[in-house]
Amino acid sequence: MSPAPLVCRGIGEFREALADRLGAASGAVSLGLVPTMGALHEGHGHLVRLARQENAVVAVSVFVNPLQFGPDEDYERYPRALDADVELLTRHGADLVLAPALEQMYPDGEPLVRVTAGRLGAVLDGASRPGHFDGALTVVNKLLNIARPPVPARFRAYFGEKDAQQLLLVRRMVADFDLPVEIRPVPIVRDDDGLALSSRNRYLDPAQRRSALVLSRALRELAAGQVGLEAARARIDAEDGVRLDYLVVVDPRTLEPAEPAPGALALVAAHVGSTRLIDNLAL
Ligand code: PAF
Repeated sequence: MSPAPLVCRGIGEFREALADRLGAASGAVSLGLVPTMGALHEGHGHLVRLARQENAVVAVSVFVNPLQFGPDEDYERYPRALDADVELLTRHGADLVLAPALEQMYPDGEPLVRVTAGRLGAVLDGASRPGHFDGALTVVNKLLNIARPPVPARFRAYFGEKDAQQLLLVRRMVADFDLPVEIRPVPIVRDDDGLALSSRNRYLDPAQRRSALVLSRALRELAAGQVGLEAARARIDAEDGVRLDYLVVVDPRTLEPAEPAPGALALVAAHVGSTRLIDNLAL
């Protein structure tokens, strides 16, 4: 087993450790950053594993970012489990963890200036969660600056494809702002029964977890052409305890509605009990 990663609570401490580790790296010097909100599962493990394969140094940030939660959302109850997170990160070979306190990230309270996600951030999850993507992009922008290699090094950041809209927006932000980082998308990891791994799955009781399977099932049936969009929506809505937010087929580059055909992306969001879940599948 690899040694436990160094856990840094302060940004200054993290940057010093980053400079040390990158300075000590031999061969091609590169840093892989995996931004997370903690409550890690094997989906995150997959991100870290890929970062480990591709980089000399792997850093993971663990920070529950209040800016991306709406007033009625689960910021307070969002699971925080740093010891278990560090255990998972040790197994997957991370070198450094940045787990800053709120005051480290936002010393003057909520930032006055934020990244605006724009048109792509106003649809789908952005329509259901106003301000969510502005908050997520603002913290991702900060994290990419905080972790920017302090010595010449290739810089990659890893994001899961489960948050397809977030991934698209991060890519747009990096391109539109000329940020010196390469964004690496990582495929969704699913449980054996098809449920996409998510930190929020731990809110589900056994009956809700069974009901939640309707989401991945509907996506698969849609992708296989076994049902049309309306029928797939109706199936989700008919499931006990499940309230559909949206099921759409879009062009993955623009999020504009598209025909269910190869190259399109089916995206779903639904409440299962009080837990909001998302999933997607390329057609
Ligand atoms: O995907 C997440 O876990 C979060 O949105 C991120 C990218 C870590 C920003 O808080």
